[in-house]
Amino acid sequence: MLLVQLSDLHVSNGFRRDMLEQAIDEVNNLAPDIIVITGDITDNGILQEYEKARSYINMLRCRNIIMLSGNHDYRNTGYLLFKRFFTPKQVYEDDQCIIATLSTARPDRDEGEVGYRQNLWLLNTLTASNDGRVKIIAMHHHLIPIPDTGSDRIIVLDAGDVLQTALEAGVNLVLCGHKHRPWIWQLGNLTIAYAGTTSSERMRGFFKNSYNIVDVHKDRIDITLKVVGGESMPLKDIVKAREVMVEG
Ligand SMILES: [Fe+2]
Ligand SMILES: [Fe+2]
Repeated sequence: MLLVQLSDLHVSNGFRRDMLEQAIDEVNNLAPDIIVITGDITDNGILQEYEKARSYINMLRCRNIIMLSGNHDYRNTGYLLFKRFFTPKQVYEDDQCIIATLSTARPDRDEGEVGYRQNLWLLNTLTASNDGRVKIIAMHHHLIPIPDTGSDRIIVLDAGDVLQTALEAGVNLVLCGHKHRPWIWQLGNLTIAYAGTTSSERMRGFFKNSYNIVDVHKDRIDITLKVVGGESMPLKDIVKAREVMVEG
């Protein structure tokens, strides 16, 4: 099963339109089974941005597109528009995987929150499907901080509860956006993968627009970082590259 994770498009007047168009072409050529877009589709949550963003999303050729909202989409009462322009899907299931999405954005706040009820729903949903399928959580805000991204106040407030659920339910993969920096943490059997920004100018630590290609097998998950219009590399090489950089 081939999944593409796009994130943080930040469609606005000043975003990198050429990068988004190139990424859409590349993703369509990959013909993925699922595309997950982990939030910040727009930059300010305003109507014109939503209209423009929807026209780009409509260019993606994939039957299963899962849209998540980000803190930027919720600005300026954009949370009302998100539901009008996109149909948020809580769970995607096929014979190989189950993907549960978390809504972490809150109106007019940059930090994220999952909340007791949503976390309980997550636990019940994911523990109910112990049938060998790969379990994936998708969320906008990052679950664990990422190096080189400075002060980390814009977090998911109850990250500890979500992490506990992920470990208890035997989740294989968490997909996050928000930080505009590709990264990966491996905690035992749990992989937490972060996508960079597909088409925003605001990059951190990794100064290229990118997205993630996730190849889900029964016994392993391969994640590739794809630079828009450029090279591919295993996402875990980003961690090694940083170590080399830091060690000089
Ligand atoms: Fe963002
Ligand atoms: Fe964000």
